[in-house]
Amino acid sequence: MIKVFIVVINLLFLAAQSAAENFTPFQDRQNLLNFYKKKFPDKKIAEYTYGALMFSEDAKSQYYSIMQFAPFEEDIDNGQRIWETPFTNGKYFADCFPANGVGEAAKYPLYDKNLDKIVTFEMKINDCLEKNGEHPFAHDDVKTMGIITSYARKLSDGFPTKVVINSKAALSKYKKGKELFFRRMGQLNLSCASCHISHAGNYFRDELISPAVGHTTNFPVFRGGEFLFTLHMRYQRCMEAMRVKPFRAGGQKLSELEFFHSFLSNDLPLHSSVYRK
Ligand code: HEC
Repeated sequence: MIKVFIVVINLLFLAAQSAAENFTPFQDRQNLLNFYKKKFPDKKIAEYTYGALMFSEDAKSQYYSIMQFAPFEEDIDNGQRIWETPFTNGKYFADCFPANGVGEAAKYPLYDKNLDKIVTFEMKINDCLEKNGEHPFAHDDVKTMGIITSYARKLSDGFPTKVVINSKAALSKYKKGKELFFRRMGQLNLSCASCHISHAGNYFRDELISPAVGHTTNFPVFRGGEFLFTLHMRYQRCMEAMRVKPFRAGGQKLSELEFFHSFLSNDLPLHSSVYRK
């Protein structure tokens, strides 16, 4: 009976949320936080940055022991080396960012008026390369884009997520991202929201499912302590689980999704390059 009740509440919430064209992003976020608060009354918002680990003390203590001597330190060091190596023209990545990149990742993705596009932190890295006469990195190349962001995003550790939506055009990108998050796709007829809202805290196969709030604060992650995943690569793996052909990493569809998704984590601090199962 209780289960049926929860399912009905979930369905009502999803229907209201996905149809609610007129909610502002602030209301969307607040509605979602209220929903999770009812579902997980003893969890503080700060805990959501742990993803699925927030549901298991055992998993969390394993996380802490792995993070103490992280097996992926060397990858982050290599990322730092790329960041600190001058381009052929003698300039550096840091020259492309205010404050040498410190705190910058927290402001991405952002809406660029001139391009009428969502620009992710990774796109800004590529823009920097191209402006300095270098070749851009492939968005799903873990050896370049992956490891450089494992370092460059760390420069924003502790900074609160600050995704800004301050124009009609930016709002329309946000709405596209939101629509994608709630869109049912593939043979299984699932949306991102089916798992990360309705089923957050439940199991999918042998994995506990994380809530959507907090999701974007830790990327890239090292799955199994070893395999680097950028946020878009993680989106792609979930799309495969939905039996959908994944959208392109670095493309506008996933960038708009990231814009909506990151706004949900506004005010939560970044902490990059962490261990995940
Ligand atoms: C069938 C259920 C399911 C669907 C649908 C799904 N995911 Fe996931 N997702 C998972 C599971 C299971 C994990 C691994 C455990 C966890 O971290 O939640 C995961 C992990 C993630 C993570 C990493 C969280 C972390 O802390 O490392 C992100 C981000 C994510 N999903 C986003 C999405 C997005 C965006 C969509 C829609 C394109 C989506 N997921 C669709 C089940 C799903």
